[in-house]
Amino acid sequence: MEIRRFGVVGAGTMGAGIAQVAAQAGFDVALVDVAPAALERGLAAIDKSLDRLVAKGKLDAAARDAARGRIAHGTALEALADRQLVVEAVVERLEVKREVLSALDRLLAPEALLATNTSSISITKLAAATGRADRVIGMHFMNPVPVMQLVEIIRGLQTSQATYDAVEAATRRLGKTPVEVHDSPGFVSNRVLMPMINEAIYCLYEGVGRPEAIDEVMRLGMNHPMGPLALADLIGLDVCLDILRVLHEGLGDPKYRPCPLLVKMVDAGYLGRKSGRGFHDYAAAG
Ligand code: 3HC
Repeated sequence: MEIRRFGVVGAGTMGAGIAQVAAQAGFDVALVDVAPAALERGLAAIDKSLDRLVAKGKLDAAARDAARGRIAHGTALEALADRQLVVEAVVERLEVKREVLSALDRLLAPEALLATNTSSISITKLAAATGRADRVIGMHFMNPVPVMQLVEIIRGLQTSQATYDAVEAATRRLGKTPVEVHDSPGFVSNRVLMPMINEAIYCLYEGVGRPEAIDEVMRLGMNHPMGPLALADLIGLDVCLDILRVLHEGLGDPKYRPCPLLVKMVDAGYLGRKSGRGFHDYAAAG
């Protein structure tokens, strides 16, 4: 099946980025978020990101307007009823994702495909919330979506070859590079990344270095584009904590135990860039 009608549910950082990239690639896109304020924020983020590309001379104004014009939006899941592929990008909680996938399963045509942008939860477990486990797959985008090349593609136990082929082809049409990995907690990306971020937080917790020093060591010493604490702030500290908990529970190894400082930061509402404060202070930086 060649996919033309693309849907995204959840207009947060990831969902908005996915909708933008799909529209720029020429797909007919529908973006849904049940919270009107979240939808507005997502659309504003898309406008800002497209304008940034125009300002940098990477996109002309006509292409920006055409891409924006390809994004229909709404607050009711019914707006996704005619989609051939819907990417679920709601909050990283098993129960919420299962509920959304089950509702989409009832709504979509039988042949439509369901992808989840989960960053750590089992695709097999999520697929079981639907009556179409052969047409459910993991499509894990990286933040910021318009910039990052990778999409991890993860088959659940029952995902069919036809589903895999259609989603791999759609990923290439998005201008991204699909890499297949197996269904295991955190897949490859977060299994490797989150322990590094957690260890950086332990360094701060144990007084091994200041946040600026920890980040500078990894930027200048390992050529990472940003330090692990700044990256955690970009991803969202709540998201990092959710993923570490999935790794800890799913793999059962104490090495994935979230650092107590991360738990405390999330309890305090310090969630990173989105709340203005994380390991670094964004409000002060404007
Ligand atoms: N939309 C469009 N373009 C954007 C953008 C956005 N939201 N954010 C950055 N860009 C573009 C900029 O326009 C710029 O383009 P240019 O090279 O043509 O000038 C380029 O990206 C670099 O941006 P900046 O110059 O503003 O800043 P940096 O050079 O510091 O790059 C960064 C920013 C791309 C975020 C870079 O620091 C980076 O790659 N960081 C690491 C990101 C990373 O590791 N992401 C993965 C996180 S893990 C994940 O997502 C998995 C999940 O499950 C947790």
